[in-house]
Amino acid sequence: MGLIIKNGTIVTPTQTYKADIGVENEKIVAIGENLCDNNAKTVDASGKLVLPGAIDAHTHLEMPFGGTISADDYFAGTRAAVCGGTTTVFDFALQDFDESMVDTIKRRDALCAPKAASDYAFHIGVKDVHGDLINTMKDAVDYGVSSFKVFMVYDFGVTDGVFYQVLEKAKSCGALIGVHAENNDMVNMLCKKFISEGKTDAWYHYASRPEWVEGEADERAIQWAKSLNTSLYIVHLANKQGVEAVTKAKQEGYAIYAETCPQYLEFTSDVYKRDDARNFVCSPPMKGKESQDALWAAIKRGDIDTIATDHCPFQQHEKDWGKDDFTKIPNGCAGIENMYPYMLGKANDGVISFNKVVEICCANPASIFGCTSKGSLDIGKDADIVLYDKDKNFTISVDNMHSDYDHTIWEGKAIHGYPVQTYLRGHLVYDNGEFVGEKGMGKFIKRAPHRHKTK
Ligand code: URP
Ligand code: ZN
Ligand code: ZN
Repeated sequence: MGLIIKNGTIVTPTQTYKADIGVENEKIVAIGENLCDNNAKTVDASGKLVLPGAIDAHTHLEMPFGGTISADDYFAGTRAAVCGGTTTVFDFALQDFDESMVDTIKRRDALCAPKAASDYAFHIGVKDVHGDLINTMKDAVDYGVSSFKVFMVYDFGVTDGVFYQVLEKAKSCGALIGVHAENNDMVNMLCKKFISEGKTDAWYHYASRPEWVEGEADERAIQWAKSLNTSLYIVHLANKQGVEAVTKAKQEGYAIYAETCPQYLEFTSDVYKRDDARNFVCSPPMKGKESQDALWAAIKRGDIDTIATDHCPFQQHEKDWGKDDFTKIPNGCAGIENMYPYMLGKANDGVISFNKVVEICCANPASIFGCTSKGSLDIGKDADIVLYDKDKNFTISVDNMHSDYDHTIWEGKAIHGYPVQTYLRGHLVYDNGEFVGEKGMGKFIKRAPHRHKTK
């Protein structure tokens, strides 16, 4: 064996137990007591939790958006990811008009492959399925990209009809559709109204996208998936009405998956009353306390399937474009390095269990998105391993993050417990505050087709 991690406490979604882990050729090859190999490098993990690397199934790295490009390029974003214990990152490859889905992947991968410091996968952001383009979804699945995202908002969002068509095609070709659900017409109408009334500060970003703007769209999206008896993945779910719709659909037996993000679990719409409110502008916006409570309750009862970040940071001068007009603020916030430590910190504080964190940050995204070599500490899986110190206290600051952005909504947040080492396929990439990996070492993860569960 090349590496043995000894004496740690392994956490899976269902078990917590003491064992050593042996690694050879980037894979976990042994789990047991008193593993021994004189040729192996040995790491003593006494007193530490040994966890799978997290999977962040929702990030936007160097994405053209909001009149600029998000502040973390592939290297900075993936470097930050591994420093927060996330070893696989999903990025969005946004389709161009008239472009086949595989060409979209190849174009994006040409940018990503030389820079990635974590493993990575893509969802395709669908824009155009006219003519034969819709059939190229199957080619993308064969290529290893078995998920697509449709946006119900933004200037590149799709119509309801296109969304439905894509849902139907996905069912037949082994793909999963993710949806950004907000009612576009309502958002546009409310934005225009507030601006015309001189209501221009960042509070009106929230006021133009209140709870029901998202909840109604969630309900509609779920309705269409139900009518096709097909799976649907709701990204960045942030509101109570949507949570209730997801719970109901699950109870009825439909494969409706929901993702939420740490920012919705930590902040409420009160942030839009702050002086730096524009820095918190993202879509959907943070919601009221009732919605936040509903998200935590849904996590606890198993109705939130995954946690992801929607990492899409912008620099301060870009956020400042919207000082006098909230519609000019590029939408998105940082989080790629914070997700796993934040959720693990909640476990350390007794809010949820460590097993639950491993389930929703690692095992579930791996199984929902077909990352067959990822998401758990089992023999044969990639040796993506995080050593976690329950006693290490950490205060988030832009200065101790490993991204390229110049501010963070998480500034000053104290976290109880923190990752101390991250291994990507057995290679040490993060060591006590330092990135020790390499640009370009991340691999494209070819994923299995989505296995649709029908009612
Ligand atoms: O505000 C956000 N979420 N920006 C990124 C794009 C998206 O909607 O996911
Ligand atoms: Zn979105
Ligand atoms: Zn997003």
